Amino acid sequence: MNILVGVAELAPLAKVGGLADAVAALARQWSTMGHRVLVVLPKYRAIDVGAHGFQPTDRVVEVPMGWWREYARLWMGTLPQSTVRVCLLENADYYEREGIYGTAEGYADNDRRFLFLSRALFEVASVLEFSPDIVHAHDYHTALAMPLLKLFYRWQPRFYKTAGVLTIHNIAFQGVTEPARLLPLLGIPWEEFYPGSPWEYFGAVNMLKVGILYADKIATVSPTYAWEIRSTPLGEGLQGVLNVRGEDVVGILNGVDYTEWDPAHDRYLPVPYSVQFLPGKQLNKRRLLSEWAGLSEPELHRNAPLLGMVTRLTEQKGIDLVCHTLERLVAELGICFALLGSGASRYEDFFRYLASRYSRQVFVQFGYNEALAHKIIAAADYLLMPSRYEPCGLTQLYALRYGTIPIVRAVGGLRDTVRQYDPMTGEGWGFLFEDYTPEALRGAVEYALSFYNVQPHWEQLRRNAMACDFSARRSAEQYLQLFEWALERVRAQRA
Ligand code: ADP
Ligand code: GLC
Repeated sequence: MNILVGVAELAPLAKVGGLADAVAALARQWSTMGHRVLVVLPKYRAIDVGAHGFQPTDRVVEVPMGWWREYARLWMGTLPQSTVRVCLLENADYYEREGIYGTAEGYADNDRRFLFLSRALFEVASVLEFSPDIVHAHDYHTALAMPLLKLFYRWQPRFYKTAGVLTIHNIAFQGVTEPARLLPLLGIPWEEFYPGSPWEYFGAVNMLKVGILYADKIATVSPTYAWEIRSTPLGEGLQGVLNVRGEDVVGILNGVDYTEWDPAHDRYLPVPYSVQFLPGKQLNKRRLLSEWAGLSEPELHRNAPLLGMVTRLTEQKGIDLVCHTLERLVAELGICFALLGSGASRYEDFFRYLASRYSRQVFVQFGYNEALAHKIIAAADYLLMPSRYEPCGLTQLYALRYGTIPIVRAVGGLRDTVRQYDPMTGEGWGFLFEDYTPEALRGAVEYALSFYNVQPHWEQLRRNAMACDFSARRSAEQYLQLFEWALERVRAQRA
């Protein structure tokens, strides 16, 4: 199949969170399976084009935006360790800025920046003579590619048989914006904007809603999240819209790229290890705690359990719960805690306070740091992920491969991927709690700690965790099946 992917993030070029990893893993798998994949994303200032071997070309795409046209120069390269073609759109006005989305609230013109990306997708395909079977959009950023395909581009022979598939990685971000701004840029007449139409959402335009209504198939990143967004407030107001699409909505669990995340071949780890050499994990813990955290030999000797978190510091990730619970856990249970995170300053302030008060137990670093992310996931005994909601979550999947036991809230993809350890049968590989309360979190942590270094449970837990297989191969195959169904739908509509 020919798969055209439009996305705002792609690891390792431009990454804020799991979206970048998930899309890169899928693209690599499809290409290994013999499919042709073209990924289009903005050329953000932060992308190190030199390091990744990207070259400018003399090709320029013209992108219709309302009555006028805007332009982007194409840079071409490949996704590292793959043959996936990647096209970067150079447009200084839109993308030559700090970061990917802007500050906490996002850039005021994100609607327009991402409309440009969604539309450029088709123009790039034309210029590069790529005829996609599937246009695969991700989140609100490229959701508008779905109506663009159905309303404008399918009249071009190249896209006549193309199906549109939209993956929702996080429904909390919907791209709600001013109709007076966006509709003229899209070329949608005002008559289309009335209550009950795809374009109208409480007096605004909701980019994700429109995408959902025009996509041939809609995926989200875990089966439980697929249910939650249709049936609970986690749908953030789009439950009804999703239910209109009913059987076209499916949950496909994200997969892991084990070439990037495997303790036996991890270039960031001081000591590689595997299930055959578990002492290697302990050595990584020692190295992290002595070199990064500065613990002395007697302090290391105590070998306190180490809880780790690598996370965006947002409400989604349950950081409020951690703020309510962590100090007592540290003070009363004597645990160590390592955090790498970036996000809201109020959360950073809390962790800064805790790290200064318990300087021998709590270690934190803020900002984005790929190497440290790998080191913490490898060194920690437990990974904490008490999310308020979690569409899929990749960090817990990485932790499993590194023998790091997840303690998670039973929501979304966390519920689908973490199985409670049962000391009677020796089955399971983590610890879950249901209620979003400090008591529930504390209970789960205490229960998990009761197995720390207690044999045979500890060894069994780690072995079970490391034996889990959440490889991206399976997700890639499930998507191909979904693509077939999407193509069938297009054929049926044409007939
Ligand atoms: P989300 O996409 O909601 O942030 P995921 O668990 O799916 O959650 O993916 C998070 C990804 O981002 C993981 O690859 C994780 O290692 C990475 N990550 C999160 N915060 C940081 C950080 N501060 N530095 C480096 N990597 C980070
Ligand atoms: C989003 C979600 C996360 C998911 C990731 C990749 O960022 O918050 O749960 O794993 O997308 O799909």
